[in-house]
Amino acid sequence: MAKIPIIIDTDTAQDDCVTILLGLLDPAADLRAITMVAGNVAFEQQVANAHLTLNVAGRLGQVPVFTGCRRPMLREWASAQDVHGDGSGGLSMDLADIEAPDEHAVNALLRLTAEASGELSIIAIGPLTNLATAVVMDRSFAGRVKRLYIMGGSNNGRGNITPSAEFNFYVDPDAAQIVLDAGFADVHMVPWAPLTLRDATIARADYDRLCAIGTPLARFFQRICDATIDYDESVGVDGSTHPDSLTLAVLLHPELVREEAPYRVDVETASELTRGMSTMAWEKFGLAPNARVVEAVDPAAFRTLLHDLLSIPTAPTRPIAGL
Ligand code: BDR
Ligand code: CA
Repeated sequence: MAKIPIIIDTDTAQDDCVTILLGLLDPAADLRAITMVAGNVAFEQQVANAHLTLNVAGRLGQVPVFTGCRRPMLREWASAQDVHGDGSGGLSMDLADIEAPDEHAVNALLRLTAEASGELSIIAIGPLTNLATAVVMDRSFAGRVKRLYIMGGSNNGRGNITPSAEFNFYVDPDAAQIVLDAGFADVHMVPWAPLTLRDATIARADYDRLCAIGTPLARFFQRICDATIDYDESVGVDGSTHPDSLTLAVLLHPELVREEAPYRVDVETASELTRGMSTMAWEKFGLAPNARVVEAVDPAAFRTLLHDLLSIPTAPTRPIAGL
């Protein structure tokens, strides 16, 4: 099977970690780079979480982790620390000798896509600041990306950080709009609602079964997801939410998708009340589509994919305190 070359652009905490594991261990994926963007938790904590994830998969030092934009384009950073804690369940490891590459993540995105023009797919599972900055810096960047998969927005549905806005689009709505206007050839979107809430939320009994698999990956999964499932249940969501790993899963395994349709997606950048809200206009409105929005996936197949992933017997590269 030919592997799909990918870059993951991430604000690494909880499900971002699961996504990196999928990129490292799914036989269909060839993870070329991780690029970090400001989002879920403190920037250096996110970088540590990415290395921790590489470590638990036995791949520490084998995939470059480029540090990127440390704040949104125009706004102050807003975090999701109330949702994720530190994003790694308090796990830690010795990071003293781990140095970030000198190259900024945006420069790395520009270089890697120039070296393999038309070959790389990008999975964007945080605020879109790095990608928008790459678009602003180089007008040919968008044309060099084979496919862009975005976790963001809601399909005219409820938000999670405000009533109307999903977190990634809320944090940097200006970047999201720049990316949506940039002319990427093949954009797919995984929205928070209704898709993730309905098809990628793992109810407590199934969650407990995943956590009990008995591998280092399953123990890691439990540690990183416990804070989030507690938070989600406290706000009426029935389980552990996995929007980011679903985004990579549908790229690697398009047979998971049951419904997907072209939409014109735009993001509110002017109002404070509805900042980051996404409107997704379907064909009735006659607007030129700029993305294909995933509307339904096979929930059982997605759970099986996570089960298979967490069952892989990895050996962490170096000790992880608390695991
Ligand atoms: C998105 O926000 C973050 O908290 C998650 O990592 C995910 O990318 C969901 O709204
Ligand atoms: Ca994320």
